[in-house]
Amino acid sequence: MKEIQVAVVAGDGIGPEVTAQGLRVLDAAAEVFGFSVKKTEYPFGSEHYFQTKEIFPDDAFEEVKQHDAILLGAIGDPRAPVGLIEYGIIAKMRFELDLYINLRPIKLYDERLCPLKGKKPEDVDMVIIRENTEDAYAGMHGFCHKDQPLEVATQTMVYTREGVDRAIRYAFETARARNKRKQVTLIDKANAVRAQDIWTRAFEEMSREYPDIKTDHAYVDAACMWMVKNPEWFDVAVTTNLFGDIVTDLGAMIQGGMGIAASGNLHPGKVSLFEPIHGSAPKHAGKNVASPVATIMAVSMLLDYCGQREASQAIEGTIQDLLTSGRLKGVGTGVHSTDEVGTMVVEALRSTAGVG
Ligand code: IPM
Ligand code: MG
Repeated sequence: MKEIQVAVVAGDGIGPEVTAQGLRVLDAAAEVFGFSVKKTEYPFGSEHYFQTKEIFPDDAFEEVKQHDAILLGAIGDPRAPVGLIEYGIIAKMRFELDLYINLRPIKLYDERLCPLKGKKPEDVDMVIIRENTEDAYAGMHGFCHKDQPLEVATQTMVYTREGVDRAIRYAFETARARNKRKQVTLIDKANAVRAQDIWTRAFEEMSREYPDIKTDHAYVDAACMWMVKNPEWFDVAVTTNLFGDIVTDLGAMIQGGMGIAASGNLHPGKVSLFEPIHGSAPKHAGKNVASPVATIMAVSMLLDYCGQREASQAIEGTIQDLLTSGRLKGVGTGVHSTDEVGTMVVEALRSTAGVG
């Protein structure tokens, strides 16, 4: 069987500790399900930048590209200039590897994790497809009369028909493959951001190719409201890069918070990147208190992407069992120590499979 080659960028803050647990689970899954993984670790992140002034050198980038998948811990340090390392590492990979889908499953595994009154696991089960290479993130911005009273700052929201189409197509395909409500909701703000009319038209045209899938629409402000009030209305939602950034943080909260939410940055068929949604949380770094569950869920997504579906589902099922049985008492900071959670998941995974 083909070996899975994973490039690992543990990054900053809590990144290294949660990544270490994610890798333990990856190794255990490989052992239990009989596949092999070759991991190559890269030191990039803010600390590396402070020490070497190097962000993500070209030769390393070329090497990373040769892998099947990338596992990223977290990037960001308040001592670094705003956005420098994030753009140099995360955005560089998103853009230069053309990772055009940001896949963010929002699934509630246990009622106790949900801050919404009366909502149960069957009510919170959706996937948000965030377009990942365009919009306000495309990097087209500028300043004139900088630091003068009449300074002007602009940032252009860029949408290409190809970029919009490929995100929408992925959403329809996901709804079909999930086979749940078979519904795609377009989230935009085309009533105010008139350029987003391209999304309205592209969505309507593509929906004709998917007669088996229902369509729905919500302006982003209303979508935030409905995700809190009636999350059960959502199955698959597709949206722009910036709105996707925002609504998926909201989504993370209704599934239990940053301690559990994971995402994939995909270019289907090519090297893709998997990460917890949370940031580097510097104040918790090095204390062994951060929840590694989000990174473990990112590992589960990575394995699914790399064709190890059974292993992926076993990891997800293990997290779910640990939560519903109460052995895992939550995914908040300090509920369990970081490595204790890793051990719990590894042991449960091995025992379900009758190994060890
Ligand atoms: C995310 C993050 C990034 C984003 C930051 C770190 C640039 O918030 O992955 O959601 O805005 O995309
Ligand atoms: Mg974000």
